[in-house]
Amino acid sequence: MRTNEVYLDNSATTRPYPEISKEVQRIMLEEYGNPSSLHRRGSEGERLLQSSRQILAEILDVSDNEIIFTSGGTESNNMAILGVARRYKKRGNHLITTSIEHSSVLEPFNQLEKEGFEVTYLIPDNKGIVSPEKVAEALTSRTILVSIMHVNNEIGSIQPISQISAALQGRNPDIVFHVDAVQSFTKLPLSPNDQGIDILSISAHKFHGPKGVGALYLREGILLEPLTRGGGHEKGLRPGTENTPGIWGMALAAKLSYENRKEKMEILQSLKERFITSLEREHPWIRLNGPGKEEGAPHIFNISFPGLKGEVVLHALEEHGIYVSTGSACHSNANSPSHVLQAIKLDKESLEGAIRFSLSHLNTREEIEYAITKTISVVSGLKKFFQLTR
Ligand SMILES: Cc1ncc(COP(=O)(O)O)c(C=O)c1O
Repeated sequence: MRTNEVYLDNSATTRPYPEISKEVQRIMLEEYGNPSSLHRRGSEGERLLQSSRQILAEILDVSDNEIIFTSGGTESNNMAILGVARRYKKRGNHLITTSIEHSSVLEPFNQLEKEGFEVTYLIPDNKGIVSPEKVAEALTSRTILVSIMHVNNEIGSIQPISQISAALQGRNPDIVFHVDAVQSFTKLPLSPNDQGIDILSISAHKFHGPKGVGALYLREGILLEPLTRGGGHEKGLRPGTENTPGIWGMALAAKLSYENRKEKMEILQSLKERFITSLEREHPWIRLNGPGKEEGAPHIFNISFPGLKGEVVLHALEEHGIYVSTGSACHSNANSPSHVLQAIKLDKESLEGAIRFSLSHLNTREEIEYAITKTISVVSGLKKFFQLTR
């Protein structure tokens, strides 16, 4: 069987839902009013914003007025981290995050260090998990912000968000807890109120929505120093005419992705386990990085083929129409090894031979079967070609 394309790079971005792309185009052409305008076209735009806010708020079980629209995960993370630190700096100058965050979290923290803040970067265990105890130990009387991602984009490890938030609450309820939920929103259970999350970042293109649009859940009462200045849009936190087609597309994509979430994830979990087990059976020398196959997010896993270069495996799979990644998309062009794989202490060969497979509920069983068969044969071929003796 030859499948045209098996896209397994869904952590980098996802294929937009066709029906939503059509709807986004329709809004661009027909409901193009500026939501701030007083006439009918403006009201149409305002209605789109309101409905979108409602849809996202319902999924997160929060109030509509706690949703702020942004241009994506990077902006949401920057707004949250820079915004909280600068707004509350009188309370203290200590911040906590982890060493396996996305660059859109790490870079704002690097910036804050230059502004005089002290940042603790917690190192995870070899499965990519940061324990609540470790977070608790790092807290000081000067800690004002803790930012920890929900699902890691490279290895799929899931952080114990509720337990971490309980540890923060126990110590000082004023500490603001931000969660980068870009890889988990619509996939894993997420409820800021139940899990004690104050601010949460999401990005539409990770759940089959349009690129360049995202949102921030901002708990009522928490203040941010805005990054940009302009009109009063989005409570003055994110001024600029709203991207109504993109925002509406994001809300619809969230709704579609969230429907039957549990069933979709159960299927992905079984496909993931089947993928890993089949590969391990044929190639027992490979290494599953981070969480074990029954643990971690159902849609992301990372495998090293020690002795082979990840990039060579990637391009060999591409020859068969299978698209994967060697690390996080933003790093895969850089020549340095992944900071996440380094943090979980992979040896040099495993670092160089790592491949991330990231699945979506839109991948069919047939596609996964094809990808398994081809990955096994591609790796056998490369092993022979490079005369690996394993
Ligand atoms: C965990 C995580 N956070 C943030 C981002 C950035 O999101 P965006 O591409 O919407 O800026 C990504 C994208 O890869 C991500 O994986």
